[in-house]
Amino acid sequence: MENKKTYYVTTPIYYPSDNFHVGHCYTTCIADALARYKREKGYDVFFLTGSDEHGQKIEDRAKKAGVSPKEFVDPIIANAKDLWQSLNISYDKFIRTTDDEHVKCVQKIFQKLYEQGDIYKGTYEGWYCTPCEAFWTEAQLVDGKCPDCGRDVVLTKEDAYFFKLSKYQKQFEEYLASHRDLMQPESRYNEMVNNFLKPGLKDLCVSRASVKWGIPVPFDDGQTIYVWIDALTNYISALGYLSDDESLFEKYWPADLHLIGKEIFRFHTIIWPIILMALGLPLPKKVYGHGWLTIDGGKISKSKGNYKDPREFIKDYGADTLRYYILSEVPFGSDGNFSELLMVERRNSDLANILGNLVNRTITMTNKYFDGEVTRISNITELDKEVIIGLNHMEKDVEAKMEALDIPNALAVIFNNLKRLNKYIDETTPWILAKDESQKGRLNDVLYMILEGIRLCALELKAFIPETAEKIFDALDTKYRTFEYAKVGTSGFKVVKKPEILFERIDEEALKARLESEEAEAKIEHLPEVTIDDFSKVELVVGKVLESKKHPDADRLLVSQVDIGSGEIRQIVTGIAEFVKPEDLVGTKVIVVANLKPAKIKGVESKGMLLVGEDDELVNVLTSTCKVGTRIR
Ligand code: MSP
Repeated sequence: MENKKTYYVTTPIYYPSDNFHVGHCYTTCIADALARYKREKGYDVFFLTGSDEHGQKIEDRAKKAGVSPKEFVDPIIANAKDLWQSLNISYDKFIRTTDDEHVKCVQKIFQKLYEQGDIYKGTYEGWYCTPCEAFWTEAQLVDGKCPDCGRDVVLTKEDAYFFKLSKYQKQFEEYLASHRDLMQPESRYNEMVNNFLKPGLKDLCVSRASVKWGIPVPFDDGQTIYVWIDALTNYISALGYLSDDESLFEKYWPADLHLIGKEIFRFHTIIWPIILMALGLPLPKKVYGHGWLTIDGGKISKSKGNYKDPREFIKDYGADTLRYYILSEVPFGSDGNFSELLMVERRNSDLANILGNLVNRTITMTNKYFDGEVTRISNITELDKEVIIGLNHMEKDVEAKMEALDIPNALAVIFNNLKRLNKYIDETTPWILAKDESQKGRLNDVLYMILEGIRLCALELKAFIPETAEKIFDALDTKYRTFEYAKVGTSGFKVVKKPEILFERIDEEALKARLESEEAEAKIEHLPEVTIDDFSKVELVVGKVLESKKHPDADRLLVSQVDIGSGEIRQIVTGIAEFVKPEDLVGTKVIVVANLKPAKIKGVESKGMLLVGEDDELVNVLTSTCKVGTRIR
């Protein structure tokens, strides 16, 4: 028997988090759709996901919780698995970097690279941000703080092991020249070449003395293998590389696709391939760096208040609504917006109207006119031919999009066919045919066409919204649920009497109202009351900015000279330089807190304060059209 073609697809391994959000579901849903699709196409698929559990951050959080790091992560991982289950993620293996086999494999890899001279001992010096587990160079710091989170960093110097990335630069560049698929999409390829390869690769620090929660360097007690060699190697340790049984590794490696978010592209398309090169292993065929799901254009995060557990969406709308929205909404490779309201609008318009109604109407008519039973088409009209051609071509059209990893357009192909079927009902008007006994044959053929169309669409939808596809097959009571039967004309139908409603319409207005009230609730966080006497102690006056320039020592600050009336000029320092150009402020009539105690801000005297409003998108200096010197009450 001929061996099946294999397909190995991976997501990144996730940091343990109690706050998994829809963004985290993004990579996983795409990988799942691809894995399901390839399985349907007859591939022998291995779909890997998992968790990345080591590092200082986990160690600190566990300490705070008074438990060991492993005890700390175990329930979090159980929670993540529960989320994947409720989203119908069909992974074949969930790897944890705390798994014994993984630990052993990482140590063997480290040892091998050391013995062949690709890992050597040196000294690492850098600014370390503990929450981000990141070392930064002096030049990367922003105002002396971590460029990612803005928190304090500490200068750290320690012995560490380094991996000779630089040694492999030439070999890697040569490889890349003939393997452009390694870095997808194209725009990210250019970024990697221009920003990292052209300036020259530097050796990579691959161990830490300061981090304890991790895999020990096998030949040096004081050192822990640092995040990237530990994390990246999961893709081969999961297959048993360097274990007693390498059969999965032999079968599935190299990976067909590593699917990752854009922020970890460099690690996956430069560091990881070079580690593999050093190990003498084949490189992954493709690494695809997708964009992010954002909310109102910004990051999704608990601290921003826009966080919602994806399971709440699944509970309210079903896994397929979330999957459909995630998979169809974002042009692959770009960032895309997530909003509950948009998700519900898409559910109503696409899933309930275009798909759900079509299925329901058709089954109802089949029951009403033929007691649920229609036979194969006997007379094919020109109109039927046109629809059949479209339907029979759908498989190829979807396949082309899937090969290009263009999932939104793969779904668009299917939904265009569903729309065509809806139009076909309007064109053929079965309810009119039903009035004329002589049209019984035609009515049978029309309903048969639609039922077959629905079956073929369900076949294509299986990878994306699997629960719904199965419900449709059940409603059609068909056993022809695989690509073997992807052409119109498979068999007759005997549909069920009372099909399940696939997608109840959600009341968008009610949702809007709920979201607005939730938003308002989240926002109102008032300070304790003050009396009018307290308030009147604050002297607010209208002033005019005469001059403004950047603070000599702080990029975020502006130093302005402000006329507050009666010839009094105040020097005021304000933290708005990132948002307001100094020249734009000159001439503006602003509101000044005139009796604020003077203070030195980064060495510059500030006498007073400008009132500034700030929301997620906008920083706005409050202004007044009253005369300079006017008291504001
Ligand atoms: N542990 C590393 C990966 C190591 S892989 C050898 C990591 N973990 S993560 O939990 O921070 O992120 C996992 C994946 O989730 C990444 O691909 C990341 O891009 C993705 N996402 C996290 N937030 C996201 C959005 N808001 N939108 C889309 N994907 C995002 O990085």
